[in-house]
Amino acid sequence: MNLEQLIVKDIEESKQGESLNLANKPNASRKMYIESYGCQMNFSDSEIVASILKEESFTTTQNISEADLVFVNTCSIREKAEQTIRKRLEFYNSIKKKGNKGMIVGVLGCMAERLKDKLLEEEKLVDIVVGPDAYRDLPNLIKQVDDGRKAVNVILSREETYADINPVRLGGNGVTAFVSITRGCDNMCTFCVVPFTRGRERSRDPKSIITECKQLVSDGYKEVTLLGQNVDSYLWYGGGAKKDFGKSSEKTKKESINFAILLDKVANTYPELRIRFSTSNPQDISKEVIETMIKYDNICKHIHLPVQSGSSKILQLMNRGYNRERYLDLIDNIKENIKDCSISMDIITGFCSETEEDHQNTLSLMDYVKYEFGYMFKYSERPNTPAARLEDDIPEEIKQRRLSEIIDKQMKHSLLRNQEKLGNTYEVLVEGTSKKSDDFLYGRTTYNSVVVFPKENHNIGDFVMVKINECTSATLKGKSI
Ligand code: 5AD
Ligand code: SF4
Repeated sequence: MNLEQLIVKDIEESKQGESLNLANKPNASRKMYIESYGCQMNFSDSEIVASILKEESFTTTQNISEADLVFVNTCSIREKAEQTIRKRLEFYNSIKKKGNKGMIVGVLGCMAERLKDKLLEEEKLVDIVVGPDAYRDLPNLIKQVDDGRKAVNVILSREETYADINPVRLGGNGVTAFVSITRGCDNMCTFCVVPFTRGRERSRDPKSIITECKQLVSDGYKEVTLLGQNVDSYLWYGGGAKKDFGKSSEKTKKESINFAILLDKVANTYPELRIRFSTSNPQDISKEVIETMIKYDNICKHIHLPVQSGSSKILQLMNRGYNRERYLDLIDNIKENIKDCSISMDIITGFCSETEEDHQNTLSLMDYVKYEFGYMFKYSERPNTPAARLEDDIPEEIKQRRLSEIIDKQMKHSLLRNQEKLGNTYEVLVEGTSKKSDDFLYGRTTYNSVVVFPKENHNIGDFVMVKINECTSATLKGKSI
């Protein structure tokens, strides 16, 4: 691949939002297929991509075999995620070889950002590489490929929030939707590749967040999840980099909007809408956010609060900004103030220099909190992160054994938390038909527990009171009353 053919566009200088003249290409007859991996933010971004391309008349398809453009929105968080995506790229290649030679393949998101033009050189089947802040440039990049060139734009931005874009809801249930409120992350946890792939943290204009919620309500949606890598650090003071906030006038500071205020605004403006948010960082979640959760019934009583480790030594090496005691104080505070609040977590096991004692500290912290559910991972070293300078010294078998112990414990706690709910009645927002039987519906409670119950005369999108009479560690089962 001739590097001169790689056209890198600076999105900040490009004609943002301007409709390109693709009149000589019948875009309306071109179908786009998009596949997303990784976090909720990626799924949300794919909806932004679909919207940008819809403006250019492209349509979407769920069937890869009829696609003219195939995009894969990628995740770099662990090595395994990247391997999965490489396999998908090989699969696309086989489709291309089998006949669909004109199919354009694009890699979007974190892996695009991490590997940049390497992806074009290594994986000959990739035509377009686009980082998370460059999606507005996609019509232009497609045009370059149409003209016989490969195209890449991996410029990260300090301003881009796609605030004005009304996402096309892809494959959704018409009931729940994601609304992104921040992009990027400034926290610099040492294990994490996100600050490098998604860039500096920036907050989206609250007006555009409210407008998006308004549209969702009028389209019949019943629940939104406000999304950000670290929602509690949301801060809007009329635009500009967050680092400059300290220099702002007192008046600007007074008029600024933090996450608690934003949450209050959304909950207050749409009392019929259920509101969730993710992810909360233990070092940033504030008293005001907890107070706002108490104030509004329509804010769901669930907090995803990744702990990562129960050992203060490991937390320090991870640069998490809190220790075991502070995390546990926070848990006590939440439990004292929000009745039955459900708490979930992420844990990484086998981080550099983690001893058996550190591992036991994680298990004992889990015993204290008894999380409702969690996502648990083996540490995966990511190139160029600060932790990559430490030795990844925990052997694979030990990582695996510790992970199994953590998962076993969580399964027990999840079952216990579900058993506590037997005999109680909960309001369930119905999201769909049960995968196992068309006669059953499923939905979630305010605590984010999944509930399955007989359909009877209920419909997707209804709020239904369900009495719980059975459970597994993953699901509650009941009957509407
Ligand atoms: N290895 C393993 N897990 C990781 N996570 C982030 N980076 C890594 C890594 N290098 C996990 C964290 C985070 C979640 C989204 O992914 O637990 O909270
Ligand atoms: Fe990564 Fe930490 Fe930011 Fe989460 S808060 S995205 S783990 S750097």
